Amino acid sequence: MNLVDTHCHLYLPEFDFDREEMLQRADDAGVKKFFLPNIDSASIDSLLHLTSEHQTTCYPMMGLHPCSVKENWKIEIEKIETLLFNSNYKWFGIGETGLDYYWDKTFIDLQKQNFQLHIDWAKQLHLPIIIHSRDSLSDSIEMIKKNKDENLTGIFHCFSGNEEEAGQIIEMNFFLGIGGVVTFKNGGLNKVLEKIPLTHVVLETDSPYLAPAPHRGKRNESSYLKLVVKKIAEVKNISEEEVAAITTANALKVFKIKT
Ligand code: NI
Repeated sequence: MNLVDTHCHLYLPEFDFDREEMLQRADDAGVKKFFLPNIDSASIDSLLHLTSEHQTTCYPMMGLHPCSVKENWKIEIEKIETLLFNSNYKWFGIGETGLDYYWDKTFIDLQKQNFQLHIDWAKQLHLPIIIHSRDSLSDSIEMIKKNKDENLTGIFHCFSGNEEEAGQIIEMNFFLGIGGVVTFKNGGLNKVLEKIPLTHVVLETDSPYLAPAPHRGKRNESSYLKLVVKKIAEVKNISEEEVAAITTANALKVFKIKT
């Protein structure tokens, strides 16, 4: 099996004591590529350290997470912008960005300004945008719709909307990131997934967060992606190999990776 983890934060301190072993377990489980979204200025060094040490498997993306949009936004965003436009790093996506109304509503206007800027960058640099959306999916879809052109594409990471929202995202030629939540009991996502074509689905773990059952609540890691594959295969009533082949092809397409 050849899998792609399209969204994971493997550079975080949660993996500091066993990162190489964790990457080996992922490789053993068939996870061959890892796309790493940034969070904020504090995560940049460890992100770039990991991706420079594993250049053929770990791919960096740059952006400012909506939960890190605060009073110091200007300082934060300048650092991100400099890395995107005035450095020699090769980036594979813009993000993660988006809107989060769950944790804190204080900076919603600034979150929108931040998201808009990331959309502009994605269009300018022809890179996919990685969208985090919590309690804010309709606003996120609206902003993408408003800015849509033939080049703009990306992933609604950790998709947890309904069938209609999935349809709108697919219509905009964006992809749905599906991870551990699909294995949760009472999650409802598998009911929605039944009705979504896999043509616009990519796999993700969001490690170290959102571990799939039976590891729910514990540290997540990329090798657990196989549990997500197993669940999707059950829901769609197809083989795990088919799930892997379709979602990996989708991931390579959205990130413009030639094999
Ligand atoms: Ni994330």
